[in-house]
Amino acid sequence: MSAKLIDGKKIAAEIEAELKLKVSKMDKAPRLSVVQVGEDPASTSYIKAKSNAAERVGIELTHHHLSDDISKSDLEKLVVDLNKTEDGVIIQLPLPDGLDEVLDLIQPENDVDGFHSVNLGNIVQGKSGMKPCTPAGIVEMLYRSGNDPKGKHVVIVGRSTIVGKPLALLLSQKGVDATVTVCHSRTPDIGRHCLEADILVAAVGYPDTITSSMVKPGAVVIDVGVNRTENGLVGDTSSDVKEVAGQLTPVPGGVGPMTVVMLMSNVVDAALKTG
Ligand code: GUN
Repeated sequence: MSAKLIDGKKIAAEIEAELKLKVSKMDKAPRLSVVQVGEDPASTSYIKAKSNAAERVGIELTHHHLSDDISKSDLEKLVVDLNKTEDGVIIQLPLPDGLDEVLDLIQPENDVDGFHSVNLGNIVQGKSGMKPCTPAGIVEMLYRSGNDPKGKHVVIVGRSTIVGKPLALLLSQKGVDATVTVCHSRTPDIGRHCLEADILVAAVGYPDTITSSMVKPGAVVIDVGVNRTENGLVGDTSSDVKEVAGQLTPVPGGVGPMTVVMLMSNVVDAALKTG
């Protein structure tokens, strides 16, 4: 049997249509600035996807593409200035060494990536606020594909600050009510935990990390991996997982479009708050 694919592109398009309608009723277009430092090709391709989505929704996106020898103080000044004029500001990662601290200068209310410690802290406390786009996109995708996580055992493989950890918090929140296990590089026998999962999330960043023998028959598998290999773009799950899983997100076309549309959603929310 082959797993049913969860079409992230289609779900993202539905959300985009909802956002476009919201934006059409606003007095002015929401504004998003994307800061890129250097020439990372993956960053360039992510920004292209964000820029296309912004155009479809009606968000005014400005791409600030800076040389990788920019000084920290010049980058800081740009971010401080953008805080004053934009609804949302993101700095595309990875940043060259020594510049990561600049991320903290994005004001929490403009932090549409949801990376600021204030926004992450709000999630810990179950408060409303900007949610990081990939975890928020995964939760939305589960609901919209008919996979309410309530009462389900979700196993997340990967404990990154932008995916694994915040996703665990969102899913275990009151009202969402999943039971969550987080596995990581130091977890002995990861497969044993994965086999227990009703919903298995692979967020590791290495191809073929999750194989069919680690998946419970019929489980929902969410593949967050974006790995550029000589065979093209692949996720973290091996190709035989589709023989065992009940449902599976494709790469590309699964979580990726959900991340982009949740960014758009955060920008619209930020604009609605400031009026
Ligand atoms: N690099 C890879 N994914 C992301 C993302 O979601 N936001 C930013 N700012 N950089 C990234």
